[in-house]
Amino acid sequence: MVEKNKRIHGVWDNHWTYICAAAGSSIGLGALWKFPYLVGEHGGAEFVLLYLLFTLVLGLPLLLAETTLGRRARQSPVNAIRYLSRESGLSQKWAALGWLGVITGLLILSYYSVVAGWSIQYLLDTATGSLQAKNVNDHAEHFRLLLDNPNQMMTWQSAFILCSVLVVMRGVHKGLGNAVRWLVPIMLVLLLVLINFSYQQGGLELAARFMFDVDWSQLTASTTLAALGLACFTLSIGVGSMMAYGAYMPDHPPVARNLLVVTLIGLLVAVGFGIVVFSIVTSNPEVDTSTGPGLIFVTLPWAFANMSGGLLWGALFFLMALLAAWSSAISLLEPAVAWLVESTRCNRFFASLLAGLAAWALGLGTIFSFNRWLGDFNFYGMVDTLTSSLLLPVSALLIAIFVGWRVRSTLLREELHTEPHWLYMIWTGLIKFICPLAIAIILASGIYQLSGEYL
Ligand code: PHE
Repeated sequence: MVEKNKRIHGVWDNHWTYICAAAGSSIGLGALWKFPYLVGEHGGAEFVLLYLLFTLVLGLPLLLAETTLGRRARQSPVNAIRYLSRESGLSQKWAALGWLGVITGLLILSYYSVVAGWSIQYLLDTATGSLQAKNVNDHAEHFRLLLDNPNQMMTWQSAFILCSVLVVMRGVHKGLGNAVRWLVPIMLVLLLVLINFSYQQGGLELAARFMFDVDWSQLTASTTLAALGLACFTLSIGVGSMMAYGAYMPDHPPVARNLLVVTLIGLLVAVGFGIVVFSIVTSNPEVDTSTGPGLIFVTLPWAFANMSGGLLWGALFFLMALLAAWSSAISLLEPAVAWLVESTRCNRFFASLLAGLAAWALGLGTIFSFNRWLGDFNFYGMVDTLTSSLLLPVSALLIAIFVGWRVRSTLLREELHTEPHWLYMIWTGLIKFICPLAIAIILASGIYQLSGEYL
């Protein structure tokens, strides 16, 4: 069965391709768009430090857990959980955990593709020089005009989903593998170029102070939950993407070491990009850092327009956002596509179209929530909060319980036989005790505070 599934989907060419795939999934709008605006909204350094802590102490062990499940079963997340439940003599109801991931992934992709569409528009606007207004209000108006135009947003959203579907359609080897081998190195080079740019602008020090000067008295439960949600989001945990990618791993990889590299690349990009954004933003004293999701689409273009060569840097910035979104979107589609291929008679071509279509249709809700559906009910806000603050942490919690307490530990040890004993013991301790406990506490207190804010 395991061998048969290896043949259905294929495996990554080598470890490097796997690292690129996982890093490509991790580097995305989470680091480039959410991270800067959440840091701005939640007051800076406390949020950054919590995010770093959660990524290393909770995220990394969960990443290893998801990857190990996928690698053991070599199937789509839904079937992988079913397979491991069977191997461990558990109820098949655990498969719901796989479904939770698939649904969360499509929900995330639905708004993700709209934001990626904004990046396409801004890439064109900066590259063609139509974003030269010097006044911040003009930039706010420019963004509002885009949000007011559902047809324009739909065009870019559809183009983006189509590009992602085209990659997934070609399979693990020719599609995903080939794409990430190019995308990830290009993104890392772009990041270095942008960091060098902020260094030359002289804003690095202010940005570093903004991001690392801590004031714990500002800490709230919802900030903590937001940091946990973001750590899961940027590591692609809780959606099944890493389970699917683990299923395509070549034999005998140094799993833990590979995942450490992936996590460090993800952190480097988030912090590096945060520094780029805040060095541009904080060197402009009139700029408000807490402008929310519009931060990189209003404040930043305005700052770029007021700098020499700003249009070129702006174009590179949005190009990076777009490539990062693309390399993540393919991993958001893969769990649903892999399931369709395994469990129905659908081939990869139709499976990719079907999953893309579902995300596209859901995305219309996000598009219309900025124009046609204005009112108390904000569909986009609901999907974003629901996925980041509830579904991802809940899914992470269930994975920790499943792997830490339910799956037979001999199976896990067998799968991780290449890892040293001490590492395995530390991981077991984290996944059994620390992860479930910490996530449950953060989730409960965050939801309590959020419900107070919403009700
Ligand atoms: N990690 C991606 C980002 O930071 C988003 C993502 C989440 C991708 C879950 C796959 C699965 O943008």
